[in-house]
Amino acid sequence: MSATRTIHFTLNGDPVTAQIGTHQHLVEVLQAQGLTGARESCAQGLCGCCTVLVNDVAVSGCLYLAAFADGADVRTIEYAPAGKLDVVQEAFIECGAFQCGYCTPGFILMTRQLLDAHPDPSEDDIRHYLSGNLCRCAAYPEIIKAVKLAAVKRRG
Ligand code: FES
Ligand code: FES
Repeated sequence: MSATRTIHFTLNGDPVTAQIGTHQHLVEVLQAQGLTGARESCAQGLCGCCTVLVNDVAVSGCLYLAAFADGADVRTIEYAPAGKLDVVQEAFIECGAFQCGYCTPGFILMTRQLLDAHPDPSEDDIRHYLSGNLCRCAAYPEIIKAVKLAAVKRRG
């Protein structure tokens, strides 16, 4: 029988209380909360499909124990404080930077992290930041175009 515990955290700005198994990973707990943007794919920390932000740091939700999120600020692709798409999401749509879209939430969260750190990123910066995100549809050329467009849009 596995142990359970109660955790309290902020999820996309709202307080959440969840009963979790101590073995459970964060992505499972988020899915149980009805948030399906972060998805488990490889379950080995290799593909980036399960990317979420914990206290503004990107983590692999498939490996990050949900118990560690107790007291944390957790944000997912569903976070939309202005109630609309941001420039990164717009750029991905405009550039057609996805096919199935399975990987897209992770790419978008990492692109936001990249542009926070490097408002005018070089192609090497882009490739470095997104190296932990895999796209099985191989939409990489369009993804790189989208990141460059998002950078331009962000700089106004
Ligand atoms: S599902 Fe977590 S990194 Fe692939
Ligand atoms: S768009 Fe299909 S995995 Fe990336």
